[in-house]
Amino acid sequence: MTTHTSFRLDGARILVTGASRGIGKAVAVVFARAGADLALSARSSAALKETAALTEEEGRTVVLVPGDLAEPGAAESVVDKAADALGGLDGMVHNAGMLPSHPDGSPVLDPFQDSAQEDWNQVLSVNLNATAALCRRAHRHLAASPRASVVLMSSTAGVIGTPRMEAYAASKAAQISLVRSLAVGWAREGIRVNALCPGWTRTDMTAFAASTEPLSDWLMAHVPLGRWAEPDEVACAALYLACPAASYLTGQALVLDGGTSVPDSGLAGIPKPPSPFAA
Ligand SMILES: NC(=O)c1ccc[n+]([C@@H]2O[C@H](COP(=O)([O-])OP(=O)(O)OC[C@H]3O[C@@H](n4cnc5c(N)ncnc54)[C@H](OP(=O)(O)O)[C@@H]3O)[C@@H](O)[C@H]2O)c1
Repeated sequence: MTTHTSFRLDGARILVTGASRGIGKAVAVVFARAGADLALSARSSAALKETAALTEEEGRTVVLVPGDLAEPGAAESVVDKAADALGGLDGMVHNAGMLPSHPDGSPVLDPFQDSAQEDWNQVLSVNLNATAALCRRAHRHLAASPRASVVLMSSTAGVIGTPRMEAYAASKAAQISLVRSLAVGWAREGIRVNALCPGWTRTDMTAFAASTEPLSDWLMAHVPLGRWAEPDEVACAALYLACPAASYLTGQALVLDGGTSVPDSGLAGIPKPPSPFAA
């Protein structure tokens, strides 16, 4: 394995969920550049077509398998259509996920005791139940591949916990637990399973926080690198987990958060602005 080939996915057939925007869109482009053939999924067919157009110049096979992962049976249908269209599956980057938001796009950040059970149910349905259904259905295809890999897009929130985002954090922690169970359970079939845990990344999901100054400043004050991650940076880490360079890596959660999850002793002197959550 040379340095050049170890970071490539030539001919690998990969399902990418949440490929219509943000991190998933970046994953699709980076994976196509690395030589993968792709099945792209999300609810919006129009946005998936835009992602597919961005991959065109790489000359790879790209098929669209739209579906709403909150709907019963949708995950299974997405996997079946992807495998049918690509002639099998060598990998899956399950990246689709959601945070509850208000109609103006701002995230619901209520204290847990005031939060709604319906929001909890919705987050767990999309972020966790669909993950289980996708992995369960993809297994038969991955087991037939000599180079199978699953990457679940978890979150730093799943590692450190996050007040006011308890459902989201719990769903992402559960994904990490599932990764550890499946990695061992499927290891003898040669299927690697890992999680990627980004910190604050500049996408539609975080657009409100990024554009609301006291909140953005407050959040970035807790990121030692002092800035938002870009979707491409997350996509490159996903590529690493999926490609031959990581062929002995399984059951891990790679945290990509600019240092946020490292306890801040205070000795670095990073200034903290006034909290927007102060009463
Ligand atoms: N941005 C961050 O700071 C951050 C940090 C850590 C982890 N993450 C995780 O990274 C992943 C991608 O997030 P992002 O920031 O790129 O978010 P985003 O811009 O909001 O994109 C979310 C993606 O998920 C798809 N999706 C949402 N609900 C769906 C459903 N019910 N059925 C099918 N697809 C659905 C969306 O497509 P449609 O709307 O077209 O369906 C979209 O492609 C998520 O799992 C998120 O939790 C994000």
